[in-house]
Amino acid sequence: MDEYNINDLLKKINELEFEIKSLKKYGLVWDKENTKEQVVLDCEKYIPVLEQDKSRKIILGKDNNILIEGDNYHSLMALNMIAKESIDIIYIDPPYNTGNSDFIYNDKFIDFEDGYRHSKWLNFLSKRLKMAKELLSEDGIIFISIDDNEQANLKILCDSIFGTNNFVTQFVWEKAQHFGRQKINFYSNCEYILCYAKKLFSSEFNKLKELLVEKIKTDLTDAPLYNASNKSNIIIFPSGSVKFNIADGVYTETNNDSYELVEPVSVKNSLNNSPLKIKFKSRWSQDTVNEEIKKGTIFLVKSKGFAIRAIYHEGKKSNESPRQIIFTNSNNSLCTYSRFKEKVGVNEEGSSDLNRLVNQNIFTYPKPTSLIKYLISLMFDYKQDIYKKDFVVLDFFAGSGTTGQAVLELNKEDGGHRRFILCTNNENNICSDVTYQRLKTVITGIRPDGSKYSEGIPSNLYYFKTSFIADHQNSDQIKYCLVEKVDALLCILENIFDEVERNEYSSHYISSDKTRHMFIYSEYFNEIKFHEFKQRVLNASGNKIVYIFSSDNYVDARIFEGDKGIEVKPIPSKIYEIYKEIVEDIKRGQ
Ligand SMILES: C[S@@+](CC[C@H](N)C(=O)[O-])C[C@H]1O[C@@H](n2cnc3c(N)ncnc32)[C@H](O)[C@@H]1O
Repeated sequence: MDEYNINDLLKKINELEFEIKSLKKYGLVWDKENTKEQVVLDCEKYIPVLEQDKSRKIILGKDNNILIEGDNYHSLMALNMIAKESIDIIYIDPPYNTGNSDFIYNDKFIDFEDGYRHSKWLNFLSKRLKMAKELLSEDGIIFISIDDNEQANLKILCDSIFGTNNFVTQFVWEKAQHFGRQKINFYSNCEYILCYAKKLFSSEFNKLKELLVEKIKTDLTDAPLYNASNKSNIIIFPSGSVKFNIADGVYTETNNDSYELVEPVSVKNSLNNSPLKIKFKSRWSQDTVNEEIKKGTIFLVKSKGFAIRAIYHEGKKSNESPRQIIFTNSNNSLCTYSRFKEKVGVNEEGSSDLNRLVNQNIFTYPKPTSLIKYLISLMFDYKQDIYKKDFVVLDFFAGSGTTGQAVLELNKEDGGHRRFILCTNNENNICSDVTYQRLKTVITGIRPDGSKYSEGIPSNLYYFKTSFIADHQNSDQIKYCLVEKVDALLCILENIFDEVERNEYSSHYISSDKTRHMFIYSEYFNEIKFHEFKQRVLNASGNKIVYIFSSDNYVDARIFEGDKGIEVKPIPSKIYEIYKEIVEDIKRGQ
């Protein structure tokens, strides 16, 4: 073999070695798309924004909820431009990709025969989940409904996006009890709900966060300390902390193999008058035993077996986690009820829930409201050891709006201030004719045909549609156009929606409780207009946020010097920068 050939071969070997090393070794591999989704191309070319449809605004309460009509890729990108890390729960129920006209990808139904159907679904969902992750707050949680068609793919996809460390569980929801349509070889009676946290481990507290709690038990009196699944450990109970129902004396051993006395213990006046040092499978660590003693818990030994019970201090409570299987048959003793005593429903209750509200035949298989209420009601504040009831819930495959109804009804149950952001396309006019009408009926209590549904649940609803900013030659022009179209995004960001005044160079909004104002000014260079604008800002009473156009992300805060309630912020450079970063990330496939 001559030298030339050897070099050639070595080069080839190096190339192959590099290729093998860079190939993914573990995880999901799928075909990348040949043709990009049109909405992705549009969002790269034009800046995605939102426009309010004021004719559909409903103002009946204090909590502001949002319904966005349009492709959720667009909505998620617009939300990312202003609301990163601000969403506490995401629930989604994406198309299951059954091959049966349930999944539209790039304007085409994907059927069973399409050899790329799983890859198309993964391309579709992965882009949206990556953007959704950016919206989740530090203690946020995402729930994703799915069935057998894509469950395995979705689990591995989510492991790579959210991280295996942040996998909470895969709930199994018993979706039916009667089996009208039998599948060959098995009855299908469950679906899954994958659950991931944004960050499950708290570095601050050095432990897993308790983010989901089904019930808090408060009527606790006493319970055994033994837990067969724990390791055997030596626990020391200080003198006087254990009551004995056996004769006084010195004990050197127990008559129960599960409890081993490490040192003799002396019992006097029915209490241990020396430390009880004992080895057994305790459900409490030494630290917890010490903490509990400080709070007033005492311990009881009833026999020479030395099985130890804890007799809890007054006010002792314990948090019960949700069980992984959500049973729905009330004849089953394990059937799942929320802490508001509502039984979780089966699939067909979803349709009856919806049809009670709006007379429709467009939407098939909405989820039962009770299921979504159950999931949202689990949200727990592990820092304060209480339930959360003031947070934002996002559903970007909102369909008929079940999640919105669930949020409103939960607030009615416990006086909470949860808010929702729902995104859905307008396929078959779902958004305008079903989702919007359903939410309107729940809020007002009046159905579209004028009949009474309920007393209503006072709240506010703002309806937005996706829209773009036209292409421009230079970035200053784009920024200038963006500032004119940015109102809707800033309203969502500041949670201030009610328009007081709007002219060609400025706008003024007020919060629903009338305590906060938002002003937006886009003509910084015109002295006279700015003077008028400044006067309007100064005349308003309450807290004021003033957005001023700046092409370089800087605004001189001294322009409102002297008025303490004013916060001045530049726009829109930050929003524009975030937009460009997202586009770059998507292009890099991140
Ligand atoms: C399975 S349904 C969700 C049902 C919902 N959980 C309910 O209870 O009504 C999925 C919904 O997502 C919508 N959808 C699908 N692709 C979308 C997209 N790219 N952007 C926005 N909505 C989309 C569909 O039109 C459908 O209404």
